[in-house]
Amino acid sequence: MPAALETQVGIVGAGPAGLLLAHLLHLNGIDSVIVERRDRDYVIDRVRAGVLEQGTVDLLMAMGVGEGVRSRGLRHDGLYVSFKGQRHRVDLADLTGGKAITVYGQNEVVRDLIDARLETGRPLYFEADRVAVDGLDSDRPVIRFDHDGQDHELRCGFIAGCDGFRGICRPSIPAAALNVYERTYPFGWLGILAEAAPACEELVYTLHDRGFALFSMRSPTVTRLYFQVPPDESIDKWSDDAIWAEMLTRMTTRDGWAPNVGRIIQKGVTPMRSFVAAPMRHGRLFLAGDAAHIVPPTGAKGLNLAASDVLVLARAFKGFYKCGRTDWLDEYSAVCERRVWKAQRFSWWMTSSMHRFPDETAFDRQRQIADLDYLTSSRAAMTSLAEQYVGLPAEVSFESAGLPQ
Ligand code: APR
Ligand code: PHB
Repeated sequence: MPAALETQVGIVGAGPAGLLLAHLLHLNGIDSVIVERRDRDYVIDRVRAGVLEQGTVDLLMAMGVGEGVRSRGLRHDGLYVSFKGQRHRVDLADLTGGKAITVYGQNEVVRDLIDARLETGRPLYFEADRVAVDGLDSDRPVIRFDHDGQDHELRCGFIAGCDGFRGICRPSIPAAALNVYERTYPFGWLGILAEAAPACEELVYTLHDRGFALFSMRSPTVTRLYFQVPPDESIDKWSDDAIWAEMLTRMTTRDGWAPNVGRIIQKGVTPMRSFVAAPMRHGRLFLAGDAAHIVPPTGAKGLNLAASDVLVLARAFKGFYKCGRTDWLDEYSAVCERRVWKAQRFSWWMTSSMHRFPDETAFDRQRQIADLDYLTSSRAAMTSLAEQYVGLPAEVSFESAGLPQ
């Protein structure tokens, strides 16, 4: 006999989307159970993105889980775009009326949210096996899973599919009920973490003849760097010395600026993809975050989109459980999709203008340079970049999701 459990919102996945949603529901007095496939350390140690939009930082603060980002996050008022050996600064704060981005690793966000979840005493099952969802068209959908050798049946009011791109929730929706939009790119990113003080206080996005490169950081002693490689590149092909040689070749500017070199403590290759599945709802299953959409990392939008989805979803569940309204449930996908597509467009544009493409022509190359030249010399163009990079205004108010404004 499976152990029988019950909850208002069953959440599959303890990434940023699932954990943020769970805490927003908790703040509204709505109960939830989180079911996560991996163990706690794996979830926390996974190295991912690190740029938080202004609105994401504001959300963490309003939720009372912003202490880590406030004390250890690195606020950046600008960024650099580098091409033809020269860095050009884009003053994000000046162009957006004082908004900024904050560099704070996704794993730190996840650690803070797991701590907050454990403090609430509400359930979070790590290392759940054979997770499956069923009864999506009924008013009592279930999540089945094994935990500690015991099978469980969790009966839910709703299910939130927050289980990332490779999760089981999206594939549980009949294919005919989903529209899928996808683009893959003919390159990936080789990324490293290095024990080296950041050589610049802000991010540097570089287009070099040998391809894209990105300078970022995690802390005053850790630098995060990336460069473009073929999509199926094996990390084993790259010795640490070869990685540094390529980083320095692509990033060093004519005035002699270059990242500081240090011991490489983590390295890997990530593929690049744009993907949207819509609608983000089927019956009583709601998809949020990477389960519904993926952006290439160039615009640093992945984690931020997950945060904005769950704000809209928390409003919908609050409306239902506190006021009996269903209109916010019905609007969920359409409200999210508008932001998702703008972020898709922005991420595609950042990617297209800063990477070398195998089939590009000499014309394409000159156009790309002109694109960056225009971008860095026109206040109008820089304003457009800045308002999207720091994050477009939230789709719904914090208040509507039960948070103080
Ligand atoms: N059952 C339970 N949990 C699962 C399952 C499953 N079958 N499949 C995946 N998961 C878990 C993963 O182990 C992971 O912890 O779901 C979680 C999904 O988390 P993320 O992939 O981080 O996705 P999301 O929470 O939507 O975060 C948004 O923004 O920066 C980007 O891609 C980056 O992960 C980031 C994303
Ligand atoms: C990162 O620091 O990991 C990072 C920064 C900016 C991006 C992507 C990743 O666009």
